Amino acid sequence: MENSHSTVQSVGENEQDYLSEVQRLNALYASKNGRCKKCFIDTYGCQMNEHDSEILLGLLVQMGYEKTDDLSKADLILLNTCCIREKAESKVLSHLGELRRLKNDNPELIIGVCGCMMQQVGMIEKIKTSAPHVQLLFGTHNLHKLPEFIYRLITNSEQQMEILPKETAIQEGLPTKREFPFKALVNIIYGCNNFCTYCIVPYVRGRERSRQINDIVEEVKNLVADGVVEITLLGQNVNSYGKDLKDGTNFALLLTKLCEIDGLKRIRYMTSHPKDLTEELIQTVARHPKICSHFHLPVQSGSSAILKAMNRGYTKEDYLLLVEKIRHYLPKAAITTDIIVGFPNETEEDFLETIDLVQKVQFDNAFSFIYSKRAGTPAARMQDDVSLEEKKERLQRLNDVLGDYAKAINETYVHQVIEILVEGVSKNNANMLSGKTASNKTVIFAGDAALVGQFVLVEITEAQTWILKGVLLEP
Ligand code: SAH
Ligand code: SF4
Ligand code: F3S
Repeated sequence: MENSHSTVQSVGENEQDYLSEVQRLNALYASKNGRCKKCFIDTYGCQMNEHDSEILLGLLVQMGYEKTDDLSKADLILLNTCCIREKAESKVLSHLGELRRLKNDNPELIIGVCGCMMQQVGMIEKIKTSAPHVQLLFGTHNLHKLPEFIYRLITNSEQQMEILPKETAIQEGLPTKREFPFKALVNIIYGCNNFCTYCIVPYVRGRERSRQINDIVEEVKNLVADGVVEITLLGQNVNSYGKDLKDGTNFALLLTKLCEIDGLKRIRYMTSHPKDLTEELIQTVARHPKICSHFHLPVQSGSSAILKAMNRGYTKEDYLLLVEKIRHYLPKAAITTDIIVGFPNETEEDFLETIDLVQKVQFDNAFSFIYSKRAGTPAARMQDDVSLEEKKERLQRLNDVLGDYAKAINETYVHQVIEILVEGVSKNNANMLSGKTASNKTVIFAGDAALVGQFVLVEITEAQTWILKGVLLEP
């Protein structure tokens, strides 16, 4: 069993019993067959899901499973799903179809589906009819019960299905198996209360629930003791952190406390909702060098009429003022965003307002999407007179403008010497390392793989639209 970069703590008492029992059965299996059982987790969607998968893997490793990246070797395959857009959902359904062959070849194989998609009304029935080879189904509110589900499956091979319609209390102390030894994702708030009219998240993740500040600080201290130098605090709206605790805790206070942890070098967070980003928070970021000066501030649209229809709670002017405020305190901060084109009835004029906003803000980077209708959301009931063709064409125009600014900003980095956290070996070239600046830009440079996880100085030599290239400076 691999032991690197795990934070092992105990799960609840009942689950601990199930976990120990599965562990015992899996150890028996391993001694009989000369191999450990293997698990494969396929993660779709955002960093919340990535983090949930780290917990699922943490539980599975404690149960005696070994991680594999080879589907054909897996004894257990889990799909941790996303339903933010239709495309995410159809990817899962087509992957499930492909897995039927593996199940036919190996009837012992357990195939499970969990995550946001499972929380949608009617999805269980849909999976049951379209993918009867799936034996395990659970949602976003009960992943801590994985040991119990697996125990029941391997002892009497019944189907296990449990979707809790409502959020449960936050489960502290679940084991995680992190992807990186030097950086970690830390959830600070679950759920969302904002109900943007296009968005499915509040329906599948429930209402906002903040973790206690001491639990978060403790977790981060443990991570740092384990070698972590960078954390990313996660929440659908991190600026809401603490509101539900009603004890005066807020996100700025949490950040200030985390900055006091020795050995922690970089703090990132996402996502900030523009309507809740306070001046206090901007000042906090400006005051503490450990907090990366990068604001991911999804604007969604530049048209105040569309923003109103989206229920975003700010106007184009409010957003521009906020950007001005950030630039006042942190002139060099990177600002990135998410934009949706083709929201129901978005006119060409609305779209041009978005282009105008992009030209005024000049984002470092952006994720842009074509609006996707999500059943059960208010926007799904709105009339829509914009054709898909037109939406695609708008997306292309938007991406061209976004790309031009991203490239221009990247060009200002050329000749600068910048501190990079080396994150890994480049995907396209084994002799090249890739790392991130504090402003979250990817930098590619030649260097020894032993530098992964360390901070190095790199002189930037070339700017492309979405990456920088550089030369490593000797220490
Ligand atoms: N909580 C974050 C966003 C989470 S979802 C926030 O409010 O900023 C990530 C992004 O997906 C959103 O910012 C939005 O741009 C996009 N998105 C959400 N629902 C969508 C939909 N129905 N169609 C297209 N894009 C969508
Ligand atoms: Fe969705 Fe809006 Fe909540 Fe973000 S803030 S998760 S876009 S409802
Ligand atoms: Fe998708 Fe759920 Fe995240 S719907 S974007 S995985 S919160």
